[in-house]
Amino acid sequence: MTIGVLTSGGDAPGMNAALRAVVRCAVVDGMQVKGIRHGYQGILDEDIIDLDSLSVANILTTGGTMLKTARCLEFLKSEVQDQAADILRKHGIEALVVIGGDGSFRGAAELAQRGINVMGVPATIDNDLGCTDYTIGFDTAINTAMEAIDKVRDTSASHERACVIEVMGRSAGYIALYCGIGNGVEEMLLPELYDGNEDAIAERMLATRAKGKNIYMIVSAEGVGDASGLAGRLKEKTGIDTKAIILGHIQRGGSPTCMDRVYASVMGSRAEALIRDGKRSRVVIYKNGEFGDMDILDSLMVRKALPNDFLMMSRKLIR
Ligand code: ADP
Ligand code: F6P
Repeated sequence: MTIGVLTSGGDAPGMNAALRAVVRCAVVDGMQVKGIRHGYQGILDEDIIDLDSLSVANILTTGGTMLKTARCLEFLKSEVQDQAADILRKHGIEALVVIGGDGSFRGAAELAQRGINVMGVPATIDNDLGCTDYTIGFDTAINTAMEAIDKVRDTSASHERACVIEVMGRSAGYIALYCGIGNGVEEMLLPELYDGNEDAIAERMLATRAKGKNIYMIVSAEGVGDASGLAGRLKEKTGIDTKAIILGHIQRGGSPTCMDRVYASVMGSRAEALIRDGKRSRVVIYKNGEFGDMDILDSLMVRKALPNDFLMMSRKLIR
């Protein structure tokens, strides 16, 4: 049997660990593995390489993706998806492992509807997939962001400044929520909840200062909007020196944490096992403390909310 594997969408630390697990388990089970470079673009370009156990040596500890990744807008077209399914068949690829986020799974679901057996492995720093509590890369990203925010705290405290620190997450607030709690910030702005009331933030900044606490750290998810503009307006409203810091792509890079390496290894090996066991078009998930899998089309219907208990608790801790 021949299987294909690709990484797609924003890269995430741990994608390489998942790829390694897919390849090594497939080799043990007697399969041939073809790596498709640059995500869905690589199918269209037939940018396909043979992979064996040695090809994935020394990648477990590295960030990024050895197979490269891409955002392929052409692949949104139905006729291009037909063409991609034909190319996969032409190369004898009987099943395709897609390591990526929500968009990549939507692409995989299109291929599934065209008769390709796809297996999704959730990998995105955003942790925004409803079907799973965990996505590969999230743990590394929040630890990278947390360390950076700690450093911003030192300088903000020394200058008695306020700051708005923008973290990634697309339209989800998971990274901001975890850093908000983990860094003990004064305020977190989450797209799922933010009401846009900047006057209220300014009042809280002034009240905090009046109490004698001369630091005000705001973690803002990128989905909330422009952090620089917000910092400028808060400075104007309060008279408090307020800096904007945009953490950006450092959150996507770096060596994966142990958790990301281990969970990616488990998820990659599970995707291969599903193929080996004759299952069709599933996604590997981690839900309520257990690894499992579900139908890819069903997985796309599940919405994700922020954990209410975390939100309630964080309100008590911010003082
Ligand atoms: P992620 O997988 O990290 O969410 P994107 O949203 O950028 O990243 O999606 C990655 C790629 O998946 C896109 O560039 C496109 O090729 C494909 N894709 C995204 N959404 C769809 C869709 N609705 N239908 C088909 N393919 C999609
Ligand atoms: O989905 C991962 C992510 O890093 C988001 O948090 C962010 O909105 C986006 O990708 C940035 O994408 P790009 O690297 O294409 O600018």
